[in-house]
Amino acid sequence: MEKYLSKLPDKVYKHELLSYLQEFQDKFGYIDLAFIEVLSKNSGIPSGKIFGITSFYNQFRFKPKGKFHIQVCEGSACHVNSEIGLIEEIKKLIKTDEKETSNDGLFSLEIIPCMGACSQGPVISINGKFYTKVSIEDIKIIFSDLNL
Ligand code: FES
Repeated sequence: MEKYLSKLPDKVYKHELLSYLQEFQDKFGYIDLAFIEVLSKNSGIPSGKIFGITSFYNQFRFKPKGKFHIQVCEGSACHVNSEIGLIEEIKKLIKTDEKETSNDGLFSLEIIPCMGACSQGPVISINGKFYTKVSIEDIKIIFSDLNL
């Protein structure tokens, strides 16, 4: 990360902020606060304002992903077919919340508006592997089968 930060241009323009944020997250998987400080210094925009901009966009996260990154679809098709409490059960099992990473670093959770498999909902993915028509009972089995 230090190497990346040292290569940033001395002058960053406001209209470039989002592309730098996206590039950083693509590279490191999350937005580090040290990066926001460097952007602030190089753009002259207060770090609190950059943090506010970053927080506004759901795509950005401030913690590294866990060993198991879980995406849960909350789109309307999945929502309609989902058992009540499915997402809450996942949060309980992994002991973490949306856009967070569990204290042990094992799990991170991301809620997605649609994962493109609407007829197969409810849909979740773990490290990119899709699980479809998922019930609360399935969730317990899926998580017990993970190689922790
Ligand atoms: S609504 Fe869930 S995959 Fe589209």
